[in-house]
Amino acid sequence: MNESELHRIDRSVKRWLHTSREFILKKMEESLNVSEKTGRKDLVTNVDKENEKFLISKIRTFAPDSQILGEEGFGDQIRQTKGWVWVVDPIDGTMNFVKQRDHFAIMIALYIDGQGVLGYIYDVIGDQLLSGGPDLGVFNNDEVLAAPANVSLRDGLICVSGPMVMHNYHNFQTVVETSSGLRIYGSAGIEMIHVLKGETVAYVSYLKPWDFGAGKILAESLGLAVTTVDGKPLDMLSSDFVMVATVQAQQDILPIIGSNV
Ligand code: IPD
Ligand code: CA
Ligand code: CA
Ligand code: CA
Repeated sequence: MNESELHRIDRSVKRWLHTSREFILKKMEESLNVSEKTGRKDLVTNVDKENEKFLISKIRTFAPDSQILGEEGFGDQIRQTKGWVWVVDPIDGTMNFVKQRDHFAIMIALYIDGQGVLGYIYDVIGDQLLSGGPDLGVFNNDEVLAAPANVSLRDGLICVSGPMVMHNYHNFQTVVETSSGLRIYGSAGIEMIHVLKGETVAYVSYLKPWDFGAGKILAESLGLAVTTVDGKPLDMLSSDFVMVATVQAQQDILPIIGSNV
């Protein structure tokens, strides 16, 4: 795809995201309609659903031949990644949205024939949009974001999901112990922003495609490693333990969890 086409898509997605942000802020002045999906720790609100419908309608008008994977189910049933595939998480960190009214993000990714092209993570309250891809570079709002330094696990902070630490999945208590300290923010998007900016050296969690679709594109564009927790390639249509890390931190983590990859 040529650069002017990429810029045209980028401008459109940013317009939708700014409208989405305004919509969410407006809705936060009203009472939320909150319901449980699989249980009390898995919530969805009217705003998640309405925002997903809005973003999907924009994508359908802009690129009608696309497939769309949306968390709340208003997109398509996707079985293969040929052609244009958009991945939408209308509110990442719904629990934070409900309980804290902060620390949540809107995420959109565009893949073409399985290759990441553009990724967007928008921290709504912080008004911080991480955007870009392999051909455009990565931006923090309008500023070019430089690749983070290749810091080791020992010298950096790490984000790991609560359950991974509590249940010691993949020996992650030792990984955390080896690092400079643990941070848990409760939104994959917000945690990935910290890795992209070099504020943490890794983020590890069990994630679904809409949780990692945008972050994978942005992180790989900055030279970060994005794999399953044991260092294997991610499947765009499957959930897995996902690790986004500096190359050094990844090399430090793999032996601790007993993987030689
Ligand atoms: C969740 C958040 C959370 C992560 C969960 C995700 P959602 O996304 O990113 O940090 O630990 O695995 O499901 O449901 O709030 O969009
Ligand atoms: Ca959810
Ligand atoms: Ca999510
Ligand atoms: Ca969500």
